[in-house]
Amino acid sequence: MDETYQRFAERYAAGPVPWDNPEPPPEVVALTAVLPPGRALDLGCGYGRTSIYLAQHGWLVDGVDFIAQAITAARQRAETAGVADRVTFYEASVAELGFLPGRYQLAVDVGCLHALTESQRLAYRDELTRLLEPGATYLLFARLGTRQGEEGPRGMEETAVHTLFTADFVLDKSEIGLTHVEDKSWQSGWFWFRRR
Ligand SMILES: C[S@@+](CC[C@H](N)C(=O)[O-])C[C@H]1O[C@@H](n2cnc3c(N)ncnc32)[C@H](O)[C@@H]1O
Repeated sequence: MDETYQRFAERYAAGPVPWDNPEPPPEVVALTAVLPPGRALDLGCGYGRTSIYLAQHGWLVDGVDFIAQAITAARQRAETAGVADRVTFYEASVAELGFLPGRYQLAVDVGCLHALTESQRLAYRDELTRLLEPGATYLLFARLGTRQGEEGPRGMEETAVHTLFTADFVLDKSEIGLTHVEDKSWQSGWFWFRRR
């Protein structure tokens, strides 16, 4: 198993994770308020807060995360929320999505892509391109900047986000800011892409 998998597995096993909130981020809520419900993909879904929220608002959702503990809890939470019939959680890598037939009108990634290696990002991008319908929305939240030799997510340069998606996606909007988690702050970005 790769080092990122190990790190996330240990973080989940250690107890509460900072992204374990009942609601998805406001950017997800605002976006889905203006989109007609359809099929959605939640990449790196964690405990499923975005998937469950979308399912509660009429979407049919697939959530993917490679940590078994997160997927087990996400299924339980969907059951408790009464949306288990509208959301399917898969324990899998977001860089290996060949098992999903698609096609989706929406994909959301809150904090996963930046943790991938370069080759995994390319595989993720290629699968996402295959899985999204033309005109579909892809909302990405990523940690920006690269940090070498430190523990924690790798992060990615803002230009790398643009380069990765430029061929098959239009960038409608981006917002760069600071994210505060516990006692740390880091640069981050929200990106609203549309599949060409
Ligand atoms: C910062 S957490 C955010 C979780 C969730 N998106 C949320 O907002 O609550 C990032 C998630 O990405 C998952 N992840 C990271 N790399 C992954 C990979 N290669 N395949 C699948 N999941 C991955 C982690 O297990 C973790 O649950």
